[in-house]
Amino acid sequence: MLRRVLLNEVSTCRHFLFNKAATSLSFPLRRINSFFSSSSQSEFPNAPFVEHLENHNAQPTTTISIDRSGLYNPDEHSHESTLESELIKHLKGVIKFRGGPITVAEYMEEVLTNPKAGFYINRDVFGAEGDFITSPEVSQMFGEMIGVWAMCLWEQMGQPKKVNLVELGPGRGTLMADLLRGASKFKSFTESLHIHMVECSPVLQKLQYCNLKCVDEHTAGEGVEKRNISTLAGVPISWHASLEQVPSGLPVIIIAHEFYDALPIHQFQRASRGWCEKMVDIVEDSTFRFVLSPQPTPATLYLMKRCKWAAIEEIDKLNHIEVCAKGMDMTHTIAKRISSDGGGALIIDYGLNGVVSDSLQAIRKHKFVNILDNPGSADLSAYVDFASIRHSAEEVSEDVCVHGPITQSQFLGSLGINFRVEALLQNCTDEQAESLRTGYWRLVGEGEAPFWEGPDEQVPIGMGTRYLAMAIVNKKQGVPVPFQ
Ligand SMILES: C[S@@+](CC[C@H](N)C(=O)[O-])C[C@H]1O[C@@H](n2cnc3c(N)ncnc32)[C@H](O)[C@@H]1O
Repeated sequence: MLRRVLLNEVSTCRHFLFNKAATSLSFPLRRINSFFSSSSQSEFPNAPFVEHLENHNAQPTTTISIDRSGLYNPDEHSHESTLESELIKHLKGVIKFRGGPITVAEYMEEVLTNPKAGFYINRDVFGAEGDFITSPEVSQMFGEMIGVWAMCLWEQMGQPKKVNLVELGPGRGTLMADLLRGASKFKSFTESLHIHMVECSPVLQKLQYCNLKCVDEHTAGEGVEKRNISTLAGVPISWHASLEQVPSGLPVIIIAHEFYDALPIHQFQRASRGWCEKMVDIVEDSTFRFVLSPQPTPATLYLMKRCKWAAIEEIDKLNHIEVCAKGMDMTHTIAKRISSDGGGALIIDYGLNGVVSDSLQAIRKHKFVNILDNPGSADLSAYVDFASIRHSAEEVSEDVCVHGPITQSQFLGSLGINFRVEALLQNCTDEQAESLRTGYWRLVGEGEAPFWEGPDEQVPIGMGTRYLAMAIVNKKQGVPVPFQ
């Protein structure tokens, strides 16, 4: 019922503002080539630039890479000519201090979330002016549909009077803003909400505060904690650095959109001596390079666990494997919270329902760049291993059930995005209609938009099948929509 009412609502179109920006991008989405089927070689420029590490101080002796010549581009890759950033100095310091290379996961974590100079920490990286664009920034319909999903789950939970609505990695806060705008008429739902934004970036936290039109609640009396209220739906909002900090004891609805892909991954490569972890090292105090660990690393335990969950044939055909230890741990935390407090989580991201081979990518200003080039100036992300999320959730609790993954197109389609776009199209200009159709295609389409008549380099690329949706819910809630 809630769904129908929201879908037919013809509201003010925040969409048109954002979509305009989206259509002007030459490389609008975080595109990943579908190269996993070829097991050993990546199409990404840096991937095979790997050497065995036998002794950190000695020159590497064994080169496994097949063709380094076309991959190493001093102009783009070298740091000699560029001024060293704080982050580069820091990374070099860590490697030198330790007397050896760091894992790709450590590198990725520093690059993205180093508290002083991480990619996400000091700036707004989204949209046409930024480095990449995400679904909530493409169209208001995305956040609205997530709102429909959350309201349906809340109904299945028995319409509790108080609920913690948690978003992990909320970016600009656009998804939550659209969710609240769409849900604002459903007072019994919005009145139950306390929103918790789990965000590591102080700059993005401030942006979220603004985009959610927050005000500080004036409270009477000393010792009473000051609350932030989003005027979009009159709901209290708090910010946290991690999910563990979100208070427990209330039923919970967790949203994680493009959060898992930003979690650090460990990379392993098959060598003659077995699986070796890929590490990041420095060459003669200047450039970064990949090397392979000479012996098993602590993350090998996660690799072994991941391999146990896969069929032998699946592993046998791979020469590279990525394991997201942080993602596994995060899923444990989510599943335990849902098990103890009730409710569910929705995870949407690009990824595979199986072992991920070699997907780590760097994007700067909407273009792929080398992963080791000027760290901190480009986004690093990796395909999400949904099968691993399923196993991680199931191994910590028998009270939760995992549903999906299904494609984003199936997810949004079943929730009624078609009706929503039709409703919005009834009340807009020609320009707005075009941008609305483009946004719709980006969310649910596959490949290049067939109707596109603009410049080739701006053709909208559909995210409908490359992005997957998965739900983890407390069994008491039954099967969530639209996973039935
Ligand atoms: C790829 S962006 C996605 C943003 C948003 N969900 C969207 O779809 O537009 C990743 C978000 O997660 C945040 N983030 C990354 N790693 C995090 C961590 N370890 N803890 C909390 N937030 C993190 C980033 O600051 C950013 O807001």
